[in-house]
Amino acid sequence: MTTATLKDARFWDNIADSYSRKPIADEEAYEIKLSITREYLSPEDCVLEFGCGTGSTALRHAPYVAHIDAIDVSSEMIAIAQRKADAGNVPNVTFREGDIEDPSLETGRYDAVFGLSILHLMHDRDAVLQRVHTMLKPGGVFVTSTTCLGDGQIHWRMLLPLMRAIGKAPFISFFSQNDLIEAHTRAGFQIVHQWQPSKDAALFLVAQKI
Ligand SMILES: C[S@@+](CC[C@H](N)C(=O)[O-])C[C@H]1O[C@@H](n2cnc3c(N)ncnc32)[C@H](O)[C@@H]1O
Repeated sequence: MTTATLKDARFWDNIADSYSRKPIADEEAYEIKLSITREYLSPEDCVLEFGCGTGSTALRHAPYVAHIDAIDVSSEMIAIAQRKADAGNVPNVTFREGDIEDPSLETGRYDAVFGLSILHLMHDRDAVLQRVHTMLKPGGVFVTSTTCLGDGQIHWRMLLPLMRAIGKAPFISFFSQNDLIEAHTRAGFQIVHQWQPSKDAALFLVAQKI
């Protein structure tokens, strides 16, 4: 298993409702990330978002592309996302339960893949980077925002495994920003945009398939 386990899916199912009501931590940084992402999108683009959560980001980008396939391992997250799409009458986002490993996802199909607040949750991040690389068309972009807990914040290394053991945290992988960037390079990407809104904030990357 390179990505999610059933335990992970259950964790996210259990918190889906509260997650959907949680305000965005840094609205300004979120809006900047949306607008940087849009610089790489075109109206004819086909996009995949994995780990789409309650769908907010996919729904914001929907008017700027042809279609978004948005998947998440949590059926509860997908149910909330679908309700939002129905309420907003958004015709070009398909929300469905799924994992990035899902063999029904077509390789070489996507102009852009989004993976937001997700790479640090992967059991085998490097396998996921390779998988995303195969899903993209040549020149396509992988847009990510990732918490890099390998850069300091030592207390999390002790706390998070304990929290996971009692069902209060998902699986979390610890790696540094440099490690993440090098992993992109190894998988065949070139970083074309890199931004960290503030110290300890998630690292935002746009990586192009080469
Ligand atoms: C921290 S939330 C991020 C949600 C959304 N991307 C955002 O930025 O708000 C992580 C999401 O990834 C989903 N997830 C975890 N592992 C996954 C996997 N292997 N494939 C697809 N989704 C996954 C969880 O169910 C959860 O909704």
